[in-house]
Amino acid sequence: MIDAQTKLYSVIGNPVNHSLSPIMHNAAFKRMGLNAAYLAFEVEHLEEAIRGIRGLGIQGVSVILPFKTQVIPFLDEVEAVAEKIKAVNTIQNKGGRLIGHNTDWRGATEALEEEVDLKGKKVLLLGAGGAARAIGFGLKEKGSQVIISNRSPDKAHELAKDLEFVNQPLSSIREPNFDIIINATSVGMVPHDDESPLPKKFLREGMLVMDIVYQPLKTKLLQEAEEQGCRTIDGLEMLALQGAAQLEIWTGRRPEINQIKEDLRKALHRK
Ligand code: ATR
Repeated sequence: MIDAQTKLYSVIGNPVNHSLSPIMHNAAFKRMGLNAAYLAFEVEHLEEAIRGIRGLGIQGVSVILPFKTQVIPFLDEVEAVAEKIKAVNTIQNKGGRLIGHNTDWRGATEALEEEVDLKGKKVLLLGAGGAARAIGFGLKEKGSQVIISNRSPDKAHELAKDLEFVNQPLSSIREPNFDIIINATSVGMVPHDDESPLPKKFLREGMLVMDIVYQPLKTKLLQEAEEQGCRTIDGLEMLALQGAAQLEIWTGRRPEINQIKEDLRKALHRK
């Protein structure tokens, strides 16, 4: 029950009405027996929102589009990894000091590591936006060999330079002998769920294919990957694992990950 001791957490972004984070975190707080609540705030003026976090003592905040990079100058401290990625998706209010973290990279690498050891693996990473930056950083940490491919080549070039990876357009990849293919673009998301970011000929039996898109859960890419005999990881895995890492930062406790996945799956089916 919400009372005078309830601690408040939130997500800030614009838009936020599609976010699954309130469902995920409120369910987790309840199961963890914590007197806490989590609300979504659609923010117009970021600086004022950050003042609100300080002024009201909001304990922890998830940051989503379009603020993940813009938020950095308003924080008191940014953890080294988030600084390198140039994106913060989690704010921790530590006794009035706002500390920025990035749990997207952990969510992605943990989802992949449930299936494979990433060291030395050949990876094709599609995209060069915020999500691709976080995933690319995780792959770098784990010692994978990565080719980055993006619609806008200049962004692929910049990310590849930052991470010392190779960038190459899909059209010039002759031999698609990858161990892992990751879609870190928004291609395939509803209402464009009849699209795939990758021609089918890239998919080979035994490859591991991960998609960050979770609406729908089985994207066209994952459907085609299954048909070709690939192993697949859907977008819910990264979402759940990055959320679990947020809860761990805020509460010091690791939540039950399978329960979080189940809550999210149910929430997606209700949509
Ligand atoms: P996020 O932070 O979620 O990664 P983003 O920074 O807007 O969001 O990045 C979106 C990614 O999806 C980019 O790599 C984008 O490619 P561009 O850099 O060329 O914009 C990619 N993307 C989005 N729509 C696409 C489309 N229709 N075809 C190919 N790539 C697309």
